[in-house]
Order: sequence, then structure tokens, then C-alpha cells
Amino acid sequence: MKTISILNKHDLSEAYALEQLCHPIAWPKQTFFSNQGDHYLNLKLTINNKIIGFCICQLVADEANLFNIAIHPKFRKQGLAKALLNCLIDKLTTINPSNPITTLWLEVRQSNKAAILLYHSLGFNQITIRKNYYPTTDGKQEDAIIMALTLAL
Ligand SMILES: CC(C)(COP(=O)(O)OP(=O)(O)OC[C@H]1O[C@@H](n2cnc3c(N)ncnc32)[C@H](O)[C@@H]1OP(=O)(O)O)[C@@H](O)C(=O)NCCC(=O)NCCS
Repeated sequence: MKTISILNKHDLSEAYALEQLCHPIAWPKQTFFSNQGDHYLNLKLTINNKIIGFCICQLVADEANLFNIAIHPKFRKQGLAKALLNCLIDKLTTINPSNPITTLWLEVRQSNKAAILLYHSLGFNQITIRKNYYPTTDGKQEDAIIMALTLAL
């Protein structure tokens, strides 16, 4: 059975194993474990109680920043990232009616075509490019594309 729910501190070890599997340059463990708490809305997608995907989203005033999203390689191209992000967007639009979140921001490697197509399919627009922002596995750098989604009020 597939479920989407809050990623809590008890999930972090399992989710971090997925982080290492999914990203060529994974976050350091300390970074992953510290991106949690009151200012985050982090979700997990489970299938039969196993974490298959997660997203890490920080909330700052009326803006949100999607810091990370990953889906297990064996479960990709089945609409799971889209389902996870649609759930995140639903929660962001209703989380604080008196001070609503208006924009969801993210940055993505220029080479990450799958992620860029995913974000476009959800209505994100490219805002700008940050030159040489990310390190690459071969010791070089690549640009970050900054994207944003205006949330329905
Ligand atoms: C990017 C990622 C999260 C996508 O997860 P996913 O579950 O495979 O994505 P979905 O199946 O929900 O795809 C939704 C849409 O994204 C696009 N897309 C996703 N993967 C794609 C691929 N490999 N090639 C082309 N388009 C792709 C398509 O438009 C797709 O819509 P469609 O199925 O109607 O064509 C996944 O590839 C991943 O975990 N990558 C490694 C981690 C990463 O790069 N995270 C993002 C940067 S932080």
C-alpha cells in the first residue's frame, strides 16, 4: 500500500540510506539530519511501510524552499515524485491560512533533465541561473537553475 505522510526523526536513518542511493553527490549525514524541525515540512512516500521517496522543504515566512526530493531508482517514472510534490503543494497551500505561503522555490542542476521535466510538469517556471553553483563528480562545477511555483491563494 502506498502512503504519503510526514517524515519524522525516526525515519531519518532509512531516508538517509535512500539519499545516498539516489544522489551522485549525497548530502553529508549531518546536513540531512539537521534539515528537520519546526521550520520544515518534510514528507515520505512509503510502499508497504518501506520508504521509497522523500522530500525536504523549508518554510521561511511566506515562502517555501524545496531542498531535496528523491525516489528510489527502482520506482521511478511511475508518477511517485509528482504525487509527493502534489501532496506537498496541497499542504503548503493550507498550512497557515492567516499567513499563507505564496511561493515554492527550488534549485536544480542544469544536467538533471528528469527533475527539470518533473518541475515543469507541475507548473514551476525558471527564474534565473546561478553559475557554477554545484560541484560535479569529476571535480568541476555546473550551473543551478532556480525555479519557482506560485501557490494558489
Ligand atoms: C527526479 C526524480 C525525483 C523524479 O522521480 P519520478 O518518480 O521518477 O518522477 P515521476 O514519475 O513523478 O515523473 C513526473 C514527470 O517528470 C518527468 N520525468 C521524470 N523522470 C523523467 C525521466 N527520467 N525522463 C524524462 N522525464 C522524466 C516527466 O515529465 C514525468 O511526467 P510523465 O510521467 O507524465 O511523463 C527521480 O528521478 C530522482 O529521485 N532522481 C534522483 C534525485 C534527484 O535528482 N532529485 C532532484 C533534485 S534535488
